[in-house]
Amino acid sequence: MREWKTKTNIRTCGINPNHWYVVALAKEVKDKPVAVELWHKKIVLFRDSKGKIRALENRCPHRQVKLSEGIVVGDEIECVYHGWRFNGEGKCSLVPYLRENQKMPSVTLKSYPVVELDGFVWLFPGDGDWETIKPMGVPEWEHLNYIASVAVIDCPGHFSFLIENLMDMYHVHLHKDYQAWANPRLKEIKTSEGRVDAIYEAESYYRIDKIWSISQLFIPALRRLHPEILQVSYIYPHWASSLGEDFKIYCLFCPIDETRTKAYLVHFTSLQAFKRLHKLPLWFRRLVKNSLFNSARGLLEGLVRQDIIMIRQEQEAFNQNPSERNYEINPTIARVQEVLLKQGQGT
Ligand code: FES
Ligand SMILES: [Fe+2]
Repeated sequence: MREWKTKTNIRTCGINPNHWYVVALAKEVKDKPVAVELWHKKIVLFRDSKGKIRALENRCPHRQVKLSEGIVVGDEIECVYHGWRFNGEGKCSLVPYLRENQKMPSVTLKSYPVVELDGFVWLFPGDGDWETIKPMGVPEWEHLNYIASVAVIDCPGHFSFLIENLMDMYHVHLHKDYQAWANPRLKEIKTSEGRVDAIYEAESYYRIDKIWSISQLFIPALRRLHPEILQVSYIYPHWASSLGEDFKIYCLFCPIDETRTKAYLVHFTSLQAFKRLHKLPLWFRRLVKNSLFNSARGLLEGLVRQDIIMIRQEQEAFNQNPSERNYEINPTIARVQEVLLKQGQGT
């Protein structure tokens, strides 16, 4: 077998299922079932009568159709075809036409640990200790001093291409009109279990210290370059970044299969510098936060569009010639690949 076909290949390697992955925005799961996919698993999400999200494999065991086509009834999900119902643990609870002398089919669908946290739905696909391993979370989501923007990434490539793109700040070259920083110089790389931190010295285009500063997000002429530390971290399986004190970005991963990755890019602009704002009533601060929600979305989507064009080409090139080697000179990428392979092998 050629080397690239082994399971240790970086471009085909699997996920470590014993982590929390982000499968949806919490607000996407309302009163109807929602179909999601995570590393070859088809999963249905639904909210029970108390608003708690449940996750089951997305198939009715009667005829293998999708449960996500059905409806939610109380704490259960009902299949659209013959109306069989399943509870949040995946147990069949009702067959509407069961005769008196017939027993309830003893089928239980696989259910997954799932939590709603910081605006997202986090799911643990493995059989490991989900109670001990905590989801990374995005603590700024609820914090009144941070304004969030979200872009969904439908990435036509293996998740290794996306995390390498996010960890390699030299690709700022690609972004031109959308870039938030310039002139990155890699200063330090730190590695620990399941984690890589790369620290770059860079120059930021933004400074959020005046009430009008937020307009820099959509008026490029207002931006001025100044030195800032740019930190990017692979916190397996997700990514977190900060640019000085003013910006934080997360990329929350949902790898679908070897050539598709869904991810959520979450950007936070800090209002920490506005001391007078912090003294205003909470309802007003909440109003400011909510009305500025998604103000950086256009910027994020522009960045994502440019990155996707490159990742699509990388994936296509790999498909055509998997043994072609890359010439990589950023040492961060080698560290990222080590973590990714180790985790993919479950170590
Ligand atoms: S296929 Fe689902 S109830 Fe028959
Ligand atoms: Fe990028």
